[in-house]
Amino acid sequence: MSEITTKPLNIQWPTADASRIPFGVFTDPDLYDLEQKTLFRGPNWSFVAMEIEIPKAGDYKTTFVGDTPVIVVRDQDGKINCFVNRCAHRGATLAYDQCGNKQDFTCVYHNWRYDLGGNLKSVAFQHGVRNVGGMPKDFDMCQHNLTKARVEVYYGLAFATFSDETPPLETYLGERMAKHIARVFNRPVKLLGSYSQVLHSNWKLYMENVKDSYHASLLHTFFTTFKLNRLSMEGGVVVDGGGGHHISWSKRGTDSAAGTAYEKAGELRSLVDDFTLADPTLIKSWLEYDDGITHAIQSIFPTFVLQQIQNSLAIRLLVPRSVDKSELFWINFGYEDDTPEQYDMRLRQSNLIGPAGLVSLEDGMIGNFIQRGIQRETDDSAVLEMGGRAVEDQQSRVSEAAVRGFWQAYRARMGI
Ligand code: FES
Ligand SMILES: [Fe+2]
Repeated sequence: MSEITTKPLNIQWPTADASRIPFGVFTDPDLYDLEQKTLFRGPNWSFVAMEIEIPKAGDYKTTFVGDTPVIVVRDQDGKINCFVNRCAHRGATLAYDQCGNKQDFTCVYHNWRYDLGGNLKSVAFQHGVRNVGGMPKDFDMCQHNLTKARVEVYYGLAFATFSDETPPLETYLGERMAKHIARVFNRPVKLLGSYSQVLHSNWKLYMENVKDSYHASLLHTFFTTFKLNRLSMEGGVVVDGGGGHHISWSKRGTDSAAGTAYEKAGELRSLVDDFTLADPTLIKSWLEYDDGITHAIQSIFPTFVLQQIQNSLAIRLLVPRSVDKSELFWINFGYEDDTPEQYDMRLRQSNLIGPAGLVSLEDGMIGNFIQRGIQRETDDSAVLEMGGRAVEDQQSRVSEAAVRGFWQAYRARMGI
């Protein structure tokens, strides 16, 4: 495990449980640095690629583990490798493109060349010019490979870790989380598109938001207005992985008469009956899976999200950029056996998500609203008591149990 050298002095947890979160955790630059070392370079798995993003030998993408830039590449044996995107000579970035195909990686600065496994293969002018100059005779190329991460693939999802102590990926996920991934990746998938958005907030504020099923009916008026996702529907929250993983789920069309009555009485956000969509095909959908679940958001600690919002399927990877900035990468996908009509419907439903999404726009915004509000309030704390103070499964989504779970896992893994 990564050695923790210092404990941040400015973070005081008001309670032993996860019902109070000091605002300083979102603003302390020392804590941010410690997270990079302890969480992202420590014994956790970080999502790095879908296998179908790099199908052929030499296909690669550049991405991040925490804020560490990495290259993820498929080698000649079909294996996926991941290493830090930093030349072992003097530290230059090796690959600049978001993706591509290469037989090796050659640094632009002095042409040190690495194979697809990250091993140093040649050094320009190693023997000097006309036997003058060059590297010392005992220079050992094997000592200058790229910094490698371990990679494991589960149902087409590649995860990487820099720690030898990280348990096998399937153990890390646990049975219930692994089963949910298998449910979505039950047959060959097809990429629909990808993009990213900058969030002007600490990365943990977005992870809180993802795990916060309580806000969906309140912040997202599009959901409630068009009856896509309301808290009166059958649903719940699964919390696992020491609190760090979660699934919140619901079934559209299961609103009880009582639930609808509550909404009309204004106890949930009331319906605005005179709003209609000029083009209702925007939200036309079909039942994606036999279990009847129409919405499912899964998070795997620390920063991986798998989304099913009706027929909009996506992976989200959150990349911390600095203490008050992050970048959210989205990969939209469907299935290879989708009909042309299903393909079109998935694309239309993609308007719900992303930086300008009819629903997701508010999630991109709300973290910054918090970041602005807490900047000088770091001695005060957030309150997390909806659904009790415990970290456990919930039969209702009117709960902050999964958010508490995140903090329970965070404190345990950070040792603070
Ligand atoms: S920094 Fe890469 S070869 Fe010199
Ligand atoms: Fe949201």
